[in-house]
Amino acid sequence: MAGRLSLVFLCSALPLLVASQQCDLQFDGRVPSNFVAATFDKANNVFNPDNVFGQNLTLSQVVQLQSNLSSLFDDRTVPVEVTINDESIFAPSATNIQNGFRRAELLIASNNGTDASTTGVKTLHFSLKKDSNRPLNLTHEYQLVFLESSDFSTNQVVLKTGTILGQNTPDPDTLQLFGNVNSNPVQTLFSTPFTAGVFHNFAVTLDFGSLTTQVFYSQGCQALVAQTDALANDVSGQGQFHFGLLKKGLNGGDDIVHNGEQEAGINEGIIYGGIFEEDSSTGCISLSR
Ligand SMILES: *[C@@H]1O[C@H](CO)[C@@H](O)[C@H](O)[C@H]1NC(C)=O
Ligand SMILES: *[C@@H]1O[C@H](CO)[C@@H](O)[C@H](O)[C@H]1NC(C)=O
Ligand SMILES: *[C@@H]1O[C@H](CO)[C@@H](O)[C@H](O)[C@H]1NC(C)=O
Ligand SMILES: *[C@@H]1O[C@H](CO)[C@@H](O)[C@H](O)[C@H]1NC(C)=O
Repeated sequence: MAGRLSLVFLCSALPLLVASQQCDLQFDGRVPSNFVAATFDKANNVFNPDNVFGQNLTLSQVVQLQSNLSSLFDDRTVPVEVTINDESIFAPSATNIQNGFRRAELLIASNNGTDASTTGVKTLHFSLKKDSNRPLNLTHEYQLVFLESSDFSTNQVVLKTGTILGQNTPDPDTLQLFGNVNSNPVQTLFSTPFTAGVFHNFAVTLDFGSLTTQVFYSQGCQALVAQTDALANDVSGQGQFHFGLLKKGLNGGDDIVHNGEQEAGINEGIIYGGIFEEDSSTGCISLSR
C-alpha cells in the first residue's frame, strides 16, 4: 500500500439546469480546512468560542472535525461534529446550572443577537448528518438547529428530532422543523425521516419584515427544492442561531431546564456542514453550489 488513502467525496458545482447562485453572504459558518479543534477555543471569526457548552468543558473537547466528509455547500471546508456527554451541563451563570439539559451548540461569531442576520430577508443554510458511532436516544427530545430570540423568550424556528415533549410523536426518528414555539398551536413547517448515512440539506428563508418562513430541502449532493411557500410565522425578536444538540430531560415538570432527568453514559453527536446565511432581499437563494 502506497500510503494512507483519504477520499473526500465532494458535491461538485452543478453547471446544468439548476440555479447555482452567488448571493451576498451575511455570515459564513463553513469551517476552513486549516482549523483544528483548538481553533474553536479562541476568537476565530467563524464561531463564538464562549458558548454554548458544558461549564467544565472547552469547545475543542466538544467538536470533532470530519475532514473526510463534505456536504452540499462545503467547498474546501470541513463538516464538524458537535458532541454531548455527561459533562454537557451549561451554566449561563454561577447560580443557573441547567441540570435538565445536556447541550452543546455552535453560535456564529458575528451573530450577537441584534445584528443584521435577523433583519431584512435572509436564507439560513445548513446540512446535518447522523454519526452511527454516537447515536441519539430518541426517547428524548433534541433541538438540533434553532433561532432563539434576543430576549430568550422563544425559538422562532427550531429543528427537532426524537420524542417531542408534550405532543404525540408518531416516529421519533424524524427531523421536524417547527415555527415559533410560542404560537398556539405550534406550526410544523416541514418534516422528513432522519435517514442515516446521508446529509440532510436545509435552506430556510426568513422574512423578518413580512414575518414568513419558507423551507427548502434536499439530501446528499442534490440541489435544494422548495418544500413550502412562504408561510406566516412570527420570526420577530432577532436573536441567535444555534447549531448543535440541546437534549431535553424527562419528567422535568414545569422546569425541564433544571429538573429534567438525564441518564448517565451519554456519548452522542450530530455532524454539521455548509452553515451559512445569505441575503435574499433581492430573491437570491442558492439551491446548489
Ligand atoms: C473519517 O475520519 C474519521 C476521523 O479521522 C475516522 O475516524 C473515520 O473512520 C473516517 N471515516 C471514513 C468512512 O473513512
Ligand atoms: C464543574 O466542576 C466543579 C468542580 O469539580 C463542580 O463542582 C461542578 O459541579 C461542575 N459543574 C458541572 C455543571 O458539572
Ligand atoms: C452587534 O453587532 C452589530 C453589528 O456588528 C453591532 O452594530 C452592535 O453594536 C453589536 N451589539 C453588541 C451588543 O455588541
Ligand atoms: C434512553 O433514554 C431513556 C430515558 O432517559 C433511558 O431509560 C435509556 O436507558 C436510554 N437508552 C440508552 C441506550 O441510553
